[in-house]
Formats: sequence, C-alpha cells, structure tokens
Amino acid sequence: MKDTLILGIETSCDETSASVVINGRKVLSNVIASQIDLHAQYGGVVPEIASRKHVELILPIIDKALEEAKIGLDQVDGIAVTYGPGLVGALLVGVSAAKSIAFALNKPLIKVNHIEGHIAANYITHEQLEPPYICLVASGGHSHIIHVTGYSDFEILGKTRDDAAGEAFDKISRVLGLGYPGGPAIDRMARQGDPQAFRFPRVRFDEDSRYDFSFSGLKTAVINTVHQLEQKGEPIPVADICASFQQAVVDVLTDYTVSAAKSRKMKTICIAGGVAANSLLRSTMQESAGKTGIEVLYPSLILCTDNAAMIASAGYYALMAGKRADWRLNATPSLRIGQDG
Ligand code: KG4
Ligand code: ZN
Repeated sequence: MKDTLILGIETSCDETSASVVINGRKVLSNVIASQIDLHAQYGGVVPEIASRKHVELILPIIDKALEEAKIGLDQVDGIAVTYGPGLVGALLVGVSAAKSIAFALNKPLIKVNHIEGHIAANYITHEQLEPPYICLVASGGHSHIIHVTGYSDFEILGKTRDDAAGEAFDKISRVLGLGYPGGPAIDRMARQGDPQAFRFPRVRFDEDSRYDFSFSGLKTAVINTVHQLEQKGEPIPVADICASFQQAVVDVLTDYTVSAAKSRKMKTICIAGGVAANSLLRSTMQESAGKTGIEVLYPSLILCTDNAAMIASAGYYALMAGKRADWRLNATPSLRIGQDG
C-alpha cells in the first residue's frame, strides 16, 4: 500500500512547529521553535507576543520541516492542523497557514484537537500500540483521564475541576523563584528534597466523580506554607517543598489513572502531555501499574511537550477515518476532547 505523508502544523500556545509523518507513526521531520525564552521574562505565556512570533515563524518552519523530510509540498497527502484548544490568536496562525496550503494545492485539510494530538504522540514512540487503553493527558492546559476506545474515539473518565497539573507546577515554580516553565525546574530541584517533609493535600471527590482532579487547594497550601515561613523569617526549604508538592501531584495522577485502568480492565496505560516528561510520574506510574501487570507507555521527551509530529499522527488517523475539514475551519479556543466543533 502507498505510504501516506501528512504535514502537521501546531501553533496552539508557545511552540511553532511543523512536521512530516508517514502513516501516523514514522517521523521524517519535527521542527519545533520554542518561544520559552521570550515568555520566561514575564513568568508565563503572553498571548499577543505568542501570536506575533507564530506569524513570523510559521512559513520558515514549514519550509524547514519539508526540507528535513526531503520532500516537496506536492508529495504531501494531507495537511493536519491544531484548531483547539489553545490561545485563539496563536491557533489562528496555524489554521490560516494550513487552510491556505491545502486550498492552493487542493489537498485534504484535517483538523486536529490538541489533546488528541498529545495522545497520538504515543503511536510514534510505540509502533505496536493500538487502542483500547487508558491515557492520562497532563499538560499546562489540561488534565484528563481518557479511555481511548479507537484511534479517533475517546471517553473522558475524569478531568481537572480547576487548575491543570502543569499549570500548578508553573505557579509553584514562580512562587519559589524557579522560573518558567516550572515543570522541569521543580522536577530537577525535587531530586535533592524530601517528599515527606511537608504533607500537602490530595483532593478526592465522591464516587461519581472519582477520576476528577483538583489542584487549586494544593497550590494554595504550598503558597501558604511559603508565606508563613517568610513571615517567620525562616529560610525556605525549596527542594523539600518541590519534592513534597511533586509527590502530592504524582500520587493523585497515578492513583486515579491506575484505578481507572483496573476498573476498565485495560492492560495498557499511556501518559501524554508536558507533565508526562516528569521523572517521578513516569517511575511511580510504572511501579504502581506494574504490580497488577499493567504496562505503562510514554512518549519520548521531545514528543511530550507541544510538537507538530503528534498532530500529524492524529491527523493521519482522522484522515483514515474519512474525516476532512472544510474551508470554513476556524480556531476553537475551548474545544473539548471528542467534540467535533
Ligand atoms: O503539553 P505542553 O507542552 O503544553 C500544553 O499543551 O499545555 O505542556 C507544558 C506543561 C508546562 O506546564 C510544564 O511546566 C509542564 O508541561 N512540564 C512538566 C515537565 N516538563 C514540562 N511538568 C512536570 N515535570 C516535567 N518534567
Ligand atoms: Zn500541549
């Protein structure tokens, strides 16, 4: 059978990325221009600056992705683009570029939900992976436990009621003066700290919502601890706070995901999104799931955070399922998983 080459485009937040992927699994190129340095001075992503930078970078990044893949645009079988969720101005840059290219070349335009893209990153790293499985998606904007029943079919089992896991990492990092993005900084600092030093809260909802998360109480508890120590003029044990905070997030993410997998009798758990890069989450999930014979898979580090290869992979499966977007495609900033908006 002829190979299917998808050009993926991702501009939902602060990464401008383009990629060429064969048959949803094999990456020919994955060019990522991160704007982290640009936003770090403000302690988080500034939407206006992100949009402007995407406009500047999108065409050169697409050119570079095609060049590294050693193909011309005419060889592409479809153009897949993130259309939500994300920052509206940022999304619009990718959507406009994808529409223009697809229209000019008369190629299929494929719309991809960013969260579904994060899940698809696992298909690239794990060639044999097939649905069904349970996926924990934890990133700067989302925390979901999802039953992946098909390549383009999802059932949401749980989600955050307030902050996303990555957002909590970013906020605590800012309070402790560790900079943006917070996840990698806290991950590193926590290695030198004691995870039992502070007992931060782990929120649990009642039976009907047993896979839902809440991280805002945890965030407040950590911030209060820091303020109380400051008021008493005591030194802030930064490493211990990082380790104890990280342990609280990882305990909750792991417990709920493993229990969802058990209740659905799934043999595989995938983790995805920026927080899937967390070293404690990876090892704890593996240890906890391993006890009941459940395997745990996660994408390579570069495919955990935002990138266009995961969008091309999800786009491939959407195209195979006969899904194509029309020329009215628009950015949908608060798109939900499984929603065809
Ligand atoms: O998936 P992503 O690139 O963007 C969104 O879709 O939101 O995720 C970025 C998030 C940030 O909040 C960042 O702090 C977090 O992922 N992150 C981590 C780690 N690396 C990135 N969180 C915990 N531990 C890490 N090692
Ligand atoms: Zn993301």
